Parts: sequence; C-alpha cells; structure tokens
Amino acid sequence: MDLGKSVYWNDEVKIRIEGEKKYVNEFQVFERIGRGAYSKVKRVVREYTDNGQHFQDVYAMKMMHKPTLVKERALRYDNNGQMEMINNLDKVYNEIELWGRINHAFFIKIYELIDADEHDYLYLILEIADLGQLASWDYKQELYIRNQAIFDLVINWLGENGLVQEGISEVEQVARFIFRQLAEAVHYLHEELKMIHRDIKLDNILFSSKDMRVKLTDFTVSRGDIGDDTRLFDSEGTPSFTAPECHIVEEGGYKPKPTDMWSFGVSLYAYVQQIVPFYSSGGELEMQINARTKELEIPPTFSPELKDLMSKLLTKDPDARLSAAETLYHPFFQMGLPPAEIDQLLQQ
Ligand SMILES: Nc1ncnc2c1ncn2[C@@H]1O[C@H](COP(=O)(O)OP(=O)(O)O)[C@@H](O)[C@H]1O
Ligand SMILES: [Mg+2]
Repeated sequence: MDLGKSVYWNDEVKIRIEGEKKYVNEFQVFERIGRGAYSKVKRVVREYTDNGQHFQDVYAMKMMHKPTLVKERALRYDNNGQMEMINNLDKVYNEIELWGRINHAFFIKIYELIDADEHDYLYLILEIADLGQLASWDYKQELYIRNQAIFDLVINWLGENGLVQEGISEVEQVARFIFRQLAEAVHYLHEELKMIHRDIKLDNILFSSKDMRVKLTDFTVSRGDIGDDTRLFDSEGTPSFTAPECHIVEEGGYKPKPTDMWSFGVSLYAYVQQIVPFYSSGGELEMQINARTKELEIPPTFSPELKDLMSKLLTKDPDARLSAAETLYHPFFQMGLPPAEIDQLLQQ
C-alpha cells in the first residue's frame, strides 16, 4: 500500500489501561462521537510537552475490527469494468490510500494509520470536526434532524457580518454557506485529484467551529484515477442518495462525476427539507424505483434559485446534470456576498 508522505503508518500498537484511562499508543481515548456500518469513531487526546510548554492535541480516531471486515466479501468492478473479488478490509486500505492524497481545508485530514498484523483493530488518527455531522436521520419521526450547533453558528456568523438576506428563509441561507464550500470541495476532488467520493450524504459532511469549514469525510467507496473515459459498473454508497443510473447499470457503464453531483443535490435538498427527494417509508428499494421513474417534486417553499438548482442537479440524465464548477456559478450560490469575499472574511 502506498500511503505517500502525508500519512504516517505506525505498525506498532500498544494498548494501555491506567485506572480509568485508556490509551492507544500515545492517544488517550475518550467518548464515542460517531459510528458507521463497520466503524466506531472516538475523541482522543495526545498530550505532550515541548520546550517546557504543555500541549493537548485533540483528534478523532476511527477504529475498525479487521476480522469482521475480512469476512465481508463483495464483487467489485475496476475502472475498466473488470470484475474482482474484494473484502471490506481491502476497501479500508483503498480509503486510506486515497485519503492521503487529499490536502484541502474542506476535508477531514488523515494523519496516521495505526495497524499491526497481530492486532485485530486498526485505528485512523484524523482531524476532528468538533460539531460533527450536518444532520442525523430520526427513524421515528422519519426526518433528518439538523445539527443545531452548526445551524446556530452559521446564522449568527452571517448576522454578525451583516450578511443575512431579507425575504429568504434562514435554512436556505445556512445551506448556501455550507453547500457552497461543499461544491468547492467536490470541484477540488473531481478536477484536481481526479477522484470521486461516491458517498456524499448528510452523515459524511461534518463541520468544524474552529475554522467555520465544511469537512467532507468517509472515503470507503471512493475511486481515484478517474479519466475522461472512465466508466463505472457497480453501485456503491447509500441508496437514497445515489443517482438513478447506478441502480440498474446499462451496458457500457456510467460516468463517475455526475453521480457525485446527484448525491450533492440530494444532500442539499435533504438539508433544507429534512427529507430526501423521492422518499418512501417503504424502504430503499422503493426510493430507488422512485428516483428512476417519478418526476422530481420540489417543495413550493424553496426559493426560485434553489428550485432551479434542484431541477438541474436532480435531473435523471447524467449528461444534463450540472458539474461542480457549474454548480458553484449557479445563481443560488452567487446570491448574497460573492464567494471570494466570504473567504476573506473567514480568514480574518
Ligand atoms: N473526524 C471526525 N470528526 C468528528 N466526527 C467524525 C469524524 N469522523 C467521523 N465522525 C463521525 O462518525 C461517523 C462515522 O464515520 P465515517 O468515517 O463516516 O464511518 P463509516 O465509513 O463507517 O460510515 C460520521 O458520520 C460522523 O458522525
Ligand atoms: Mg459514513
């Protein structure tokens, strides 16, 4: 595995327990801050003294149980349509390799992999996004519950900088702030790194109060080395967020980048409306069928600019869908202060 220079691979694992305190190498382990299908994420702290000064660095630690990952096998198509058998541990190593290539303020940084052959868990040491994910699905209410701390922080910041716009709902203004950054993140991924994310959704979009930035994360199903002719043949990601062309793949495969833009559109829609477009309480298969066959219904409460953007991102024809660059220049993201000036304000 080539981790490049940016990710340090520590192949020694030392677990220490001192009374109430638990350590993985030099990292003290605190509460759980998230969970995924195969992972747990905890807050960890590294303490050290340098030149007589005491430091406490906080990180997120994503931990995974390797024997469980190895047992889950799947078929995968490579970028040329060749089928191969992989397991979920292969996916994790793929994730780390791609993650190491990313160097941008709108992504969670990966610093270190702690992984020894004889130890069942592997650990990723990551930049922490203190406010966590944008929203969480509530099964009982069947709604995405927005992360209130992120919402309040952004709306207050807009207020303090005199950027609140009259006649536009607060949630759209917050969404504009957050998703403009996300569009830049996707643009960087697609155009500079030639990578696609493949699992853009509200759970994987985090936010940090430290720099007021979106932090995209979770590259488990991402793909690198995307060329102009690359076509994909398999379906990955989260069904309610994936584009219709990946549900039933037609001969010749489908273009990679437009699928991320569909998921971007679903995420923005779901942030504002608290529900995905094409939602069905009947489950994921129904939602896939809806996305393929039903016409998009845009809530009347959306502003004209947001309605227009939605219709151009959630179009079933991947060739007609807006690219990341076109999304950035769409009127919805050009309202209020021009983006460059917002960036300047953030850097003050
Ligand atoms: N760096 C981080 N800072 C804060 N929260 C995180 C961080 N990484 C992950 N999380 C939380 O943990 C959850 C699961 O992490 P994720 O990387 O998405 O794992 P999985 O691949 O299993 O979905 C995320 O949805 C998020 O809520
Ligand atoms: Mg995730």
